[in-house]
Amino acid sequence: MDEKYDAIILGTGVTECVLSALLSVEGKKVLHIDRNDYYGADCASLNLTQLWQKFRPGQEPPKDIGRDRDYAVDLIAKFMMANGELTKMLVHTDVTRYLEFKQIAGSYVFRDGRVAKVPATEMEAVRSSLMGLFEKRRAKKFFEFLQNWKDDDPATHQGLSLDNDNMTKIFDYFGLEPGTRDFIGHAMALHLEDSYMQRPARETYDRIILYTSSMARYGKSPYIYPLYGLGELPQAFARLSAIYGGTYMLDKPVDEIVVDEETGKFKGVRSGEETVYADLVIGDPSYFRQGVGAADKRKQLVRETAKVVRAICLLKHPIPNTDNTDSTQLIIPQNQVNRKHDIYVAEVSSAQNICAKDIYVAQVSTIVESSTPELELRPGFELLGPIFEKFVTVAPVEEPLEDGKESNIYITRSLDATSHFETLVDDVHSVFERCMGKGLVLKKREEGAQVQE
Ligand SMILES: *[C@@H]1O[C@H](CO)[C@@H](O)[C@H](O)[C@H]1NC(C)=O
Repeated sequence: MDEKYDAIILGTGVTECVLSALLSVEGKKVLHIDRNDYYGADCASLNLTQLWQKFRPGQEPPKDIGRDRDYAVDLIAKFMMANGELTKMLVHTDVTRYLEFKQIAGSYVFRDGRVAKVPATEMEAVRSSLMGLFEKRRAKKFFEFLQNWKDDDPATHQGLSLDNDNMTKIFDYFGLEPGTRDFIGHAMALHLEDSYMQRPARETYDRIILYTSSMARYGKSPYIYPLYGLGELPQAFARLSAIYGGTYMLDKPVDEIVVDEETGKFKGVRSGEETVYADLVIGDPSYFRQGVGAADKRKQLVRETAKVVRAICLLKHPIPNTDNTDSTQLIIPQNQVNRKHDIYVAEVSSAQNICAKDIYVAQVSTIVESSTPELELRPGFELLGPIFEKFVTVAPVEEPLEDGKESNIYITRSLDATSHFETLVDDVHSVFERCMGKGLVLKKREEGAQVQE
């Protein structure tokens, strides 16, 4: 390992793999290391034996739920927006040639104690069971306003401004009820909390349009998901990387991030006796917890901002009230259950080739607000019907203390509680811009990912 690289990437989570591919496409020589002997880091997909080894050590998985090779259960489940940035990044890097996707069959939201489909058009709004008769009319006007908006045609603006008016003003103008604002803001615009209401409406407009245009692309939901689980993404990136002359190394311990003692700038990564050198390092926060520098003046690089609780639930039926769909995203907006953070439910099944027939895997997650995290998931569990196996984890959400420009140490953020990739994409853009000194511009291409109905 005495070659010098442009960049060393630590951890094979989705964020790091996307960045690794983007740098490769830019012509950078990349060495990608993971301490684990499998791809995916925290977002790996496990078979039955691995799942039981992790959560029920010493016990055998039940004999009647299929074979190992039927299973690829995500430790962290997330869906991609069909027209979203992650999809564009996969197309831009050409990694889509190694992947096949499947539509997620439904998108649901919890309102007033019930589960209902998220309407994506004014027509669906009119039919939706989410709203009463008068509210439907108001929502229809709101969706028509968004669909018809043209920046250069004031006649479509109804006296409103997406850039100068906040979202509260727009909602007020159409007279929408709080519960309607909840599903629009959280299940369509995918905001994590309510501060968006005070900000200019443009951002929320863009997000709703992304939702509706993604929905229009394949018809059932705005989401797509790789066949055989999210663990396919890192493996596809590894194959792609080989074409660009990049190197992946699994099962490689990382013992030290070596920095220049005087300047504090990144020099290399030490594994046992050997050190590999590069201009910069990008990695997930877990590789930087020990800080850098001499023992007496150690510099901390990451901090914990929250904890996320996730439960992988195995079911023998689809989630009730979701029209027997084989896969679903279900969002429980914070206000609907008196919380500060939304609860997310992501369900996949044998239709995505991630488990045996007649099994459904639902992941329930949220940001921890109390000392009893598992109890906080209860509103989610209650919507699932009987759960025959449940694996719960609590993980820190960490972020870098610095932007990395001084030290050439660029640290990504831990994956959050959301069941989609929209927040991850922001982080990819941010790290790319910080380390490359320019914004990421994705090639415009007509073809998208290969998606099965
Ligand atoms: C939204 O903007 C209006 C003025 O257009 C202002 O009066 C109001 O306080 C703002 N609301 C929030 C929640 O920031």
